[in-house]
Amino acid sequence: MFFKNLFFKIRNSLIAFGYKFFLKPIFFKMDPEKVHDKMIMVGSFLGHLWTMRFLTKILFGYSNESLNQNILGIDFQNPVGLAAGFDKNADLPDIIGDVGFGSIEVGSITALPCEGNPGKHLWRLPKSSALVVYYGLKNKGAKIISKKLLKFDKRNPSLEVRLSKKAFGNLVLGTSVAMTNCAKNADIYSAIEDFSEGFRAFSEIGDYMTVNISCPNTSGGMPFIEASNLDSLLTYLDTIPTSKPVFLKFSPDTERFDVKTLVEIAHKHRVHGIICSNLTKNRINEEILDKDVPNVGGISGKPVKNLTKDLISQIYQMESILPVEKRLIVVGCGGIFSAEDAYEKIKHGASLVQLITGMIYEGPQLISAINIGLTELLKKDGYKNISEAIGVYHRG
Ligand SMILES: Cc1cc2nc3c(=O)[nH]c(=O)nc-3n(C[C@H](O)[C@H](O)[C@H](O)COP(=O)(O)O)c2cc1C
Repeated sequence: MFFKNLFFKIRNSLIAFGYKFFLKPIFFKMDPEKVHDKMIMVGSFLGHLWTMRFLTKILFGYSNESLNQNILGIDFQNPVGLAAGFDKNADLPDIIGDVGFGSIEVGSITALPCEGNPGKHLWRLPKSSALVVYYGLKNKGAKIISKKLLKFDKRNPSLEVRLSKKAFGNLVLGTSVAMTNCAKNADIYSAIEDFSEGFRAFSEIGDYMTVNISCPNTSGGMPFIEASNLDSLLTYLDTIPTSKPVFLKFSPDTERFDVKTLVEIAHKHRVHGIICSNLTKNRINEEILDKDVPNVGGISGKPVKNLTKDLISQIYQMESILPVEKRLIVVGCGGIFSAEDAYEKIKHGASLVQLITGMIYEGPQLISAINIGLTELLKKDGYKNISEAIGVYHRG
């Protein structure tokens, strides 16, 4: 393992150098949303060409058995996933596994197409290693996106062929669904119906689903972080047949007491895991070092890191007193910029991790750098598999 990792580390250092000194200075002079859109265009184009996928794998790939896990019946090659919001319209599943990710969560997707909030959607906070996000669930809508993902539909008769290792690698595909950002969803019944329509469209597409109840940028606010509304929504979603595990995505701004109630509600319904967490709206945060912070939008990156750590710990500790088969899986997301950051979340109780902002600041080689670093941290602590490290901070 030593020489294998050394080779990949040298490769990554060269790419990191190129990103830091050539590409990033150009990207960071441009409007962040334009850069994002261009990256999606390039990624989508490259994903259609097997030669480019192969080259991408050589430049960014890495695998190691100690990172493999089977969670809720799904085989994850490694614990690092691309969080929801980067690939809003599912343009990247063909290539993202070659970039080194073990999973991708596309979306968030809403029943109806949505242009997003008016005006600017994205700002960088470079001193804080963060972004301010104000998209407001911009996406092409469930109808168009579910059609695009037909090859991942479990009801598709040729699925086995299409999902063969050769064609797509072992990438795990999650679909994140949210309520459409529109005025009519200020009414809770309308919001539940709208949410359910999006959920139904993806009920058999991909490997797992996420119910995003914590987008901080919609005109109707976050009605489903309120206990009775969440209960009503999940009661409705329970009636929609699906063979896939369902995750809920929490806000890092939820009070500890409310988290407890929301987790209890999750247990009453068909929920298998919690993603901790979405963007923070709270501007009072010592990790925010930039002076000019727009007053709209949610913040990603380093300011979310400690908030999610606390949330992961709280939920993991609540779950650890239950029998294993009843426990909710925790996914850690927020402010991961290194293997140490990812490992910390795992030791606090996350079985998997997700990221976006770290990749934007550090470059796409960050994914394999995290995976390489994780294998070394595991070895140092005497673990054979990543699953052994989950929640160790809470064990006596
Ligand atoms: C540009 C951008 C768009 C996002 N859009 C969504 C979204 O549509 N749905 C969602 O659940 N989270 C969304 N998020 C939140 C991320 O999934 C993630 O929870 C958050 O950014 C913290 O992770 P990070 O610090 O690694 O970026 C978005 C984040 C960013 C940076």
